[in-house]
Amino acid sequence: LPAGEQHKTLATVRDIYDQLLAAGFDRQGTVVALGGGVVGDITGFAAATYMRGVDLVQCPTSLLAMVDASIGGKSGVDLPQGKNLVGAFKQPVAVLADLATLPTLPPAEFVAGMAEVLKHGLIAAPHILNRLEQGIWDAPTAMESLPALQSLVTEAIQVKRDVVQDDPFEQGRRAVLNLGHTFGHAIEQVSGYTIRHGEGVAMGLVAAAHLSATLGHCSPALQQRIEQLLQRLHLPLKIPSALAPESLYQAMGSDKKKAAGKLRFVLLRGIGDAFVTDEVPEAAVLSTLRKLSH
Ligand SMILES: NC(=O)c1ccc[n+]([C@@H]2O[C@H](COP(=O)([O-])OP(=O)(O)OC[C@H]3O[C@@H](n4cnc5c(N)ncnc54)[C@H](O)[C@@H]3O)[C@@H](O)[C@H]2O)c1
Ligand SMILES: [Zn+2]
Repeated sequence: LPAGEQHKTLATVRDIYDQLLAAGFDRQGTVVALGGGVVGDITGFAAATYMRGVDLVQCPTSLLAMVDASIGGKSGVDLPQGKNLVGAFKQPVAVLADLATLPTLPPAEFVAGMAEVLKHGLIAAPHILNRLEQGIWDAPTAMESLPALQSLVTEAIQVKRDVVQDDPFEQGRRAVLNLGHTFGHAIEQVSGYTIRHGEGVAMGLVAAAHLSATLGHCSPALQQRIEQLLQRLHLPLKIPSALAPESLYQAMGSDKKKAAGKLRFVLLRGIGDAFVTDEVPEAAVLSTLRKLSH
């Protein structure tokens, strides 16, 4: 499959169906998704729908896909109107994440994956934040001590697994995994996907903390801690000014993380205490976007 979010479309899924049919693939077969989160999401959706569903194995090869995209059974593709607007819940029969695939991952992609590791720490695992603060986690250094990276990846996976097992179809608590993503998806989309998913999430985490503090849910110190962590990880904090706050706000309207026409945000009361709300005034969101734009 061609690389890149711009190929996470129905056309690519159609291409997979054509190739499966041409190869005589039937319902006894198993589809293996070998690649990053884009491949995992597209392939998962193809496996969920081809002949009403065939078995799927996820073999994530990017850090982001290992700690997040390959776990939990969400699959899907984008529409021009927005990200992940078509999809299915499709639990893989197995997920095989092998860190031996990571040395060829471009360093910027490794860095982007760390944004989801940080997100999992913020949602439910303060010890992950402590580890991120104590170690050096750029790609070359992390590769030199694989056992440390392996245990960090494992801890990040455990957060996602626990949340998903509690609420596989996102009736409630699973939505906290979208921390930073209402902002992040809008940033990705308005940038024309020139900003990576993990980079959008990084900016989105700062925005979610800023919004949480503005609305009185947490102390401004939380935003500072997140910013320091992102700096350590070489992730972006600020939203490029080319992405106008009004355009970002409009893009959030097509995000599916909304309920009954209202935008939904995941906010923080503190570390390990995320909650979902649709009681966020437009003015507060716009003010956060303006404040973080540079
Ligand atoms: N389904 C979910 O629950 C879920 C969760 C988080 C993110 N996602 C989705 O995942 C996608 C982002 O995933 P990503 O960050 O892995 O991006 P990606 O799949 O685009 O991979 C990033 C780049 O790295 C390359 N690559 C991957 N593994 C490599 C390796 N081992 N060696 C060399 N190159 C390699 C890819 O070809 C690509 O160019 C987004 O579409 C996002 O929406 C889904
Ligand atoms: Zn994500």
